Amino acid sequence: MHLSLLLLSVLVVLPLSGASPPPFQHHPFPRTRRTASSQHPKLIEVTRPLPYDSLTPACSLPLFNHSFGNTYNLPPTAANYSAPLDCTWSNAVLQFSGASNGTQYDRISAVWLAGAELLRTSTPEPTPEGISWTFRKDITRYSALLRRSNLTLSVMLENIVDDFYTGIFHVNITFLFYNLRKSPLGNKSSPRKLVHNRQPSFTPTASLELDQIPADLIIPVSAAGAGEEGFWFRFQSENDAVYREIQIPSNTYRAVIEVYVSAHGDDEFWYSNPPDYYIERNGLNITRGHGVYREVLVKLDDSVVGSVLPFPVIFTGGINPLFWDPIVAIGAFSLPSYKIELTPFLGMLLDDKPHYFGFGVAEAIPFWLVDANLHLWLDDGPVHVSAGLIKYRNPNNRIQRESSFAKLDGKFRTVGQRDSEFSGWVYSSAGNLTTRVITKLQFDNEVSYKSNGTIVNVEHKVTVQKQIEITMPSSGTVATSSVDSKYPLKLKTTSAARSGPENYLMSTDLEVSYEEEKKMDHFESQMKNKQKCKGWMLVQGNDVLSGAGATSQTYTVKDSLSCYSRKISANESAVVSDAENFLCGSMGVSGSSDS
Ligand SMILES: *[C@@H]1O[C@H](CO)[C@@H](O)[C@H](O)[C@H]1NC(C)=O
Ligand SMILES: *[C@@H]1O[C@H](CO)[C@@H](O)[C@H](O)[C@H]1NC(C)=O
Ligand SMILES: *[C@@H]1O[C@H](CO)[C@@H](O)[C@H](O)[C@H]1NC(C)=O
Ligand SMILES: *[C@@H]1O[C@H](CO)[C@@H](O)[C@H](O)[C@H]1NC(C)=O
Ligand SMILES: *[C@@H]1O[C@H](CO)[C@@H](O)[C@H](O)[C@H]1NC(C)=O
Ligand SMILES: *[C@@H]1O[C@H](CO)[C@@H](O)[C@H](O)[C@H]1NC(C)=O
Ligand SMILES: *[C@@H]1O[C@H](CO)[C@@H](O)[C@H](O)[C@H]1NC(C)=O
Ligand SMILES: *[C@@H]1O[C@H](CO)[C@@H](O)[C@H](O)[C@H]1NC(C)=O
Ligand SMILES: *[C@@H]1O[C@H](CO)[C@@H](O)[C@H](O)[C@H]1NC(C)=O
Ligand SMILES: *[C@@H]1O[C@H](CO)[C@@H](O)[C@H](O)[C@H]1NC(C)=O
Repeated sequence: MHLSLLLLSVLVVLPLSGASPPPFQHHPFPRTRRTASSQHPKLIEVTRPLPYDSLTPACSLPLFNHSFGNTYNLPPTAANYSAPLDCTWSNAVLQFSGASNGTQYDRISAVWLAGAELLRTSTPEPTPEGISWTFRKDITRYSALLRRSNLTLSVMLENIVDDFYTGIFHVNITFLFYNLRKSPLGNKSSPRKLVHNRQPSFTPTASLELDQIPADLIIPVSAAGAGEEGFWFRFQSENDAVYREIQIPSNTYRAVIEVYVSAHGDDEFWYSNPPDYYIERNGLNITRGHGVYREVLVKLDDSVVGSVLPFPVIFTGGINPLFWDPIVAIGAFSLPSYKIELTPFLGMLLDDKPHYFGFGVAEAIPFWLVDANLHLWLDDGPVHVSAGLIKYRNPNNRIQRESSFAKLDGKFRTVGQRDSEFSGWVYSSAGNLTTRVITKLQFDNEVSYKSNGTIVNVEHKVTVQKQIEITMPSSGTVATSSVDSKYPLKLKTTSAARSGPENYLMSTDLEVSYEEEKKMDHFESQMKNKQKCKGWMLVQGNDVLSGAGATSQTYTVKDSLSCYSRKISANESAVVSDAENFLCGSMGVSGSSDS
């Protein structure tokens, strides 16, 4: 078989020993060789199609064309944004298309509008035959910004291009606007009332689905300037704390903070990092340590008001890059954001004074990129909005660590839990509503090493339970919602030394899934997105000389209104099966269709 040289970034996750040195690399960008095909398939992130995909947009704005070449240490690339003229729309979609040819690493990227993050994404790694990809993200939740004009759209994608790394990323971004509120006769000149224009008779909602009733105002909690650091805050350690001073309008009746997070460098695979004492005791020359517990904390003034245990997004160079072609890892093109209800804290915020919104990343090592958007709903009615805090219960995270090891072999278990309950009342045009938010975060992680550290097992599981309840003294409970999420990950690698310095063979099994169950008033939904991967690679220093990878994925979602499922599998860079189903019947999905 003819092998053509292909350069991919491989971030090898786990230590191994024997004759080979530990593959925790300071130059985490090895190369690999792979069979060339004249036509490379389009890369895909499996997700549910958007409800508007089959509709014709009311209007579309091609906003951004740029080729990201040698952009390291440069500020984000800017474009002007103004809301489309003469266009009646209710929903919006961001379409991102990329293409690249040559040799390059996977890169992190983000799109901001007026400093508010709309998208966190990562790039696939190019191949000599070229790659291309396109995906869409619903950005209706940012409607308040999208209706404004003379804003700056900024895109950051840091990339090094030289004689060796030749891949330039060509990126197009188009915003598509849809009108789902046309009159049944299609009379465009008499659109029905738009969602954002619903005052003064609003209905309380406990839903964290920001797209349903988009906020009236979005305030970025991001780095102030468009300097070379971009709009995200960079965290190198848990001692880094950032704050942004924000004064919210005095007629705010609801507040949600939406946090974007990504982990890089020595913390890219934080959930597999060994403790520092294991590294020291064994004299390993590696910097990926500090154990497996990381938590992104959200602070208001001096209080922790929420936190995030992030879903482990694996970039296309991660673990075994041959897994992620042409199916990329869950969230690689559209990283999840995390929503935290802050309405109980309006009693602190509605004093016509600025307050500090800030972040920290517990136990972080370099580096994390974090920022957020504050979504605010405003009361245009005649009432003077007032609010008060009723309950603040946020015990410290309880973390238990157990370990036993001898030389390179051993077992490390880390278990943690954070329970919080916040409640507060807000008096507005809707009456005097009390919002109670109960959150339970749990994680359980075990990393074990066997056979002189050559077999590594990681079992990581995060469970997040959120409940929101809105009550009124007169009518009792008026709205409730709950979201239960689970992010389990299982990873097993076996490595063996091969002759020659820094040569080893590594085989890997990986299972990762994102599961979510939502209930709100009369709506329920269950989704499960699971990937299973198997592969091997022969590595020499930073080069992957050969290898193979196979990935199968099952995506199922079932809600009160509809169903969707997709089963897809790929082997050695080609899709071998792909079936999609929109039916809820017997052919449909039961929620646990993995084999
Ligand atoms: C275990 O690994 C260490 C470090 O790589 C090596 O020095 C030692 O010889 C290995 N022991 C055995 C029994 O293979
Ligand atoms: C992108 O390129 C196309 C074709 O050259 C052009 O029609 C479009 O206006 C460009 N968009 C921007 C934002 O420059
Ligand atoms: C944005 O618009 C301003 C004013 O019209 C213009 O000076 C500037 O060059 C534009 N910026 C970009 C990136 O197109
Ligand atoms: C971007 O748009 C231009 C003009 O429409 C097109 O020629 C180019 O192929 C597009 N690039 C990508 C990466 O989609
Ligand atoms: C990559 O380069 C080849 C040959 O130069 C060209 O045919 C192909 O269209 C390019 N692909 C992309 C995605 O730019
Ligand atoms: C946008 O800027 C242009 C040029 O400076 C100005 O004419 C226009 O009124 C501005 N639009 C809005 C909505 O501020
Ligand atoms: C469409 O809207 C126009 C202007 O509001 C109105 O005159 C016309 O009667 C409407 N037509 C229908 C079919 O509703
Ligand atoms: C540790 O690894 C780094 C990078 O691989 C290397 O530069 C350095 O010399 C090593 N240090 C020791 C003590 O081996
Ligand atoms: C709203 O209700 C809370 C108790 O539920 C009460 O303490 C508060 O005074 C009420 N606020 C107004 C403005 O009525
Ligand atoms: C992938 O293809 C290879 C070669 O055709 C085959 O040996 C292997 O079993 C396949 N792997 C999976 C998981 O289907």
